Amino acid sequence: MTSPPFALQRQKSYGNLDQAEYIDWLLEFGRIVHSKLADDGSFVLDLGGAYQKGVPVRSLYNFRMLIRLCDEVGFHLAEEFFWHNPSKLPSPIEWVNKRKIRAKDSVNTVWWLSKSEWPKADVGKVRVPYSDRMKKLLEDPDKFYTPAERPSGHDIGKGFGRDNGGAIPSNLLQFPNSGSMGQYEAACKAVGVERHPARFPPKLPKFFIEMLTDKDDLVVDIFAGSNTTGEVAESLGRRWLAFEQLPEYVAASAFRFIAGGDERSLRAFHQRILDGECVDVPLGPRGSLYAETGSVK
Ligand SMILES: C[S@@+](CC[C@H](N)C(=O)[O-])C[C@H]1O[C@@H](n2cnc3c(N)ncnc32)[C@H](O)[C@@H]1O
Repeated sequence: MTSPPFALQRQKSYGNLDQAEYIDWLLEFGRIVHSKLADDGSFVLDLGGAYQKGVPVRSLYNFRMLIRLCDEVGFHLAEEFFWHNPSKLPSPIEWVNKRKIRAKDSVNTVWWLSKSEWPKADVGKVRVPYSDRMKKLLEDPDKFYTPAERPSGHDIGKGFGRDNGGAIPSNLLQFPNSGSMGQYEAACKAVGVERHPARFPPKLPKFFIEMLTDKDDLVVDIFAGSNTTGEVAESLGRRWLAFEQLPEYVAASAFRFIAGGDERSLRAFHQRILDGECVDVPLGPRGSLYAETGSVK
């Protein structure tokens, strides 16, 4: 489960390569993921959209990436997902706010890729609340629905009125990314370190981890940032590995696993990781974080 640095025009603080080079660069990671992935495993790649430089025309990089991952690396597209982030701010300002010639871009493509055509998956584990109509139907199925053969030839039958605890989710996921104050955010503020600028909401990795893995399975984030994925995997009883290029992000991400540390101990802990020490996290999580200069067990 990962969200790489995006091929955006506006440079983020963690750097971006040019869009064409970017695809080649990311493809190399794709090859490694493919070679390490379990046969029934999945590779979930969250890619934000982007505009071409200086013109109100979209880049096709996320679609090119998908096609090359399938054609050249050998992944299958198990399903395409779309993550709608209703709290996303309008951008690019020039096309959306100033000239008003493009709509606000608030959907990321999330490619669910797999090594085989039959990756382990259970959508029954990620049910969503029933609609009001469905709730009424469940209260009194006979009143609302008479089983009949549909024009398509599908006989929906009585089973349709059974309460399964929730509806099957669609491939349009709606999670706001409003940056609520959790333990990570609070500790960064207390210690005075910058929070990671491009975190995804925990609900995004949670959906895929629950749907695609079981307890004790291994979840890996190759571009972990603040390690949202590791924290979610930990809370769901999965083993996890997180890789991040910048030691300062790794150091701050460890705050996710230290409950109730005071400012001084958090600061000392942060510094030890930055200094490249291999540090044991007091709560003993089920995973490992790796930075270039050190690691956290
Ligand atoms: C979009 S952010 C991931 C944010 C993460 N999903 C979260 O919720 O915090 C991408 C991250 O990839 C990291 N990165 C870039 N190149 C990398 C590399 N070669 N190896 C590991 N991490 C890398 C960046 O430093 C950045 O933190």
